Amino acid sequence: MHCVNRQPVVIVKGQGTKIWDDTGKEYLDFTSGWAVNNIGHANPAIAEAISKQAHTLLQTSNQFYTVPQLQLAQILVENSCLDKVFFCNSGAEANEGAIKLARKFGATKRDGAYEVITAINSFHGRTLATWSATGKNHEGDPFNPLPTGFIHVEYNNIEAIKTATTEKTAAVMLEPVQGEGGVNIPSTQYLQDVRKWCDENNILLIFDEVQTGLGRLGTLFGYEISGVEPDIMTLAKGLGGGVPIGAFLANIRASVFEPKGEHGSTFGGNALTCAAANASVRYIIENDIAEHAKEMGEHIRSGLDALKEKYSFVVDVRGVGLLRAIEFDSDIAAAVVSYCNELGLLLNPIPPVTVRIMPPLTVSEVEIDKALKILETGFLKAYE
Ligand SMILES: Cc1ncc(COP(=O)(O)O)c(C=O)c1O
Repeated sequence: MHCVNRQPVVIVKGQGTKIWDDTGKEYLDFTSGWAVNNIGHANPAIAEAISKQAHTLLQTSNQFYTVPQLQLAQILVENSCLDKVFFCNSGAEANEGAIKLARKFGATKRDGAYEVITAINSFHGRTLATWSATGKNHEGDPFNPLPTGFIHVEYNNIEAIKTATTEKTAAVMLEPVQGEGGVNIPSTQYLQDVRKWCDENNILLIFDEVQTGLGRLGTLFGYEISGVEPDIMTLAKGLGGGVPIGAFLANIRASVFEPKGEHGSTFGGNALTCAAANASVRYIIENDIAEHAKEMGEHIRSGLDALKEKYSFVVDVRGVGLLRAIEFDSDIAAAVVSYCNELGLLLNPIPPVTVRIMPPLTVSEVEIDKALKILETGFLKAYE
């Protein structure tokens, strides 16, 4: 189906930060499959885990435990502030589960509260509920009526959350840095104030870390930057290193599901995807990939700062770790991305004016320097 206007490129192979198309042309992949290939394309750690697991066991029903599932749950819980985990298959599904968990918390522990406050310019997925949670104007959506119970307020504004809070509020759901919305960074004070407000009012704090989790921001989880711990955290994208898997984690207080058929998934916790994710998370932790992402993020930042200094039409460069953006003074994001594609660099447009930069976390300085050169040539062509 025609859901996306694709670039005229057929990708056949990847290795680290590089990919090749069916004509043999080489590209630097600074999209990482939309912030997924955190440890690079064709990483042997994942390839071997998948191969071994494929020869052992692919799927069981969730009436049983499997070793990869237990190992993945253990590594996530031991390395995060949360206690329980549910495995699913995508980011939207992780958020959908987190919203259900918050609703049950509201129903049972906050006098029937069910509303979830989310931020304008957030992105939480494309199922009906996560689409409704996503902070955009849904008037005229072809999917209406959407599930109700989502209140959108200004990001990085604690007063907006306070004003929107009523006895119906069950949770506040935020991205620690907004990704799809243009790489928007909130203040630490804001996140601390949100935490305090939630605590004072018995409201859950959900962090959507589908994009910011697993090293992307230079810390294993994005919440570590502010030190503000959520009650529920959702993960997907980088979790499987390229294999489709999602998860939501919760602290004991928020873990209110009961084994009454309230939540489940046939493929959630599948042995193959858990084995791949286990290998990927282990690789990130054992090789301190988050620290490498922080260092490489600084390298990109100084390169982007230099471009901003040099060209007045570059109006902003921003980001954290290896989630970066460059903003122009006119609607050229799509053109910049097309020119860069032709020149061998894959980037992600956030039309009309912003281009997102999110290479694999294993990217090298040399690759970043090459990509910044191509980016400069690409935007100069777009401005011709
Ligand atoms: C913050 C955030 N949440 C949720 C999603 C949805 O994830 P998925 O496409 O795996 O459903 C995305 C995808 O871009 C995302 O960036």
